[in-house]
Amino acid sequence: MRIAIVGGTGAFGRALAERLHGLGEDVVIGSRDASRAHEIAVVIDVHGASNDEAVVDADLVVLAVRSNAALETARALAPAIGTTPLLSVASDLTFTEHGVLPGRQSYSLAEHIDRIVDAPVAAGLQSLAVARLSRPEPPDEDILVCGDDPRAKEPSLELAARLIRGRAIDAGPLANARALEGMTAVILNVNRRYKTHAGIRLVGLE
Ligand SMILES: NC(=O)c1ccc[n+]([C@@H]2O[C@H](COP(=O)([O-])OP(=O)(O)OC[C@H]3O[C@@H](n4cnc5c(N)ncnc54)[C@H](OP(=O)(O)O)[C@@H]3O)[C@@H](O)[C@H]2O)c1
Repeated sequence: MRIAIVGGTGAFGRALAERLHGLGEDVVIGSRDASRAHEIAVVIDVHGASNDEAVVDADLVVLAVRSNAALETARALAPAIGTTPLLSVASDLTFTEHGVLPGRQSYSLAEHIDRIVDAPVAAGLQSLAVARLSRPEPPDEDILVCGDDPRAKEPSLELAARLIRGRAIDAGPLANARALEGMTAVILNVNRRYKTHAGIRLVGLE
């Protein structure tokens, strides 16, 4: 399979290219500047090209440009990509002094609730399936909890930690409930597809 990584000169694209190459895949990294792609491609032993050239003859296009350039790059490359499958790895995010927020502005239930009640609000446990919670053994998974106010977040984290064998993880401001709530849909689809009760486990944490 030939995999074209648009924006493969970046941190993620380059790492992905190296990994895929190590797995024996035929990889080409693209750049707005073909010479930059060539320079890096030589180092990691893959092909390099302009983004336009890279996607030609690819079996899969990974769009790995900076997220804020994903839409304009997709627009620009659409004719060259044609009907070749495309994998977007982008997340629309807003970085603030209070934490990282989802970039898209549509509110979660938890945020709506926060506007209704006077109490501090946290959100969490969305990924904890009752089927796993009901088993005698605590589920071997993590729980993500977010909230703006530690008065809600801290006790929620403590509660979560008692329910599972994994970790209760602080996932930042309450606006991240959009992701946690959205993840529920992801998990439900996974459950249906694989006939299971999936949970979440983060790696990279002690
Ligand atoms: N970093 C991670 O850990 C990680 C993990 C999962 C997913 N992702 C996703 O992977 C994507 C790339 O992340 P990254 O950290 O590798 O980003 P990055 O290093 O900042 O940028 C990747 C490449 O995007 C291209 N680029 C920058 N500005 C552009 C513009 N205005 N128009 C077109 N191309 C532009 C650049 O390539 P050229 O200048 O060579 O054209 C750059 O090398 C993002 O969507 C990110 O959300 C990242």
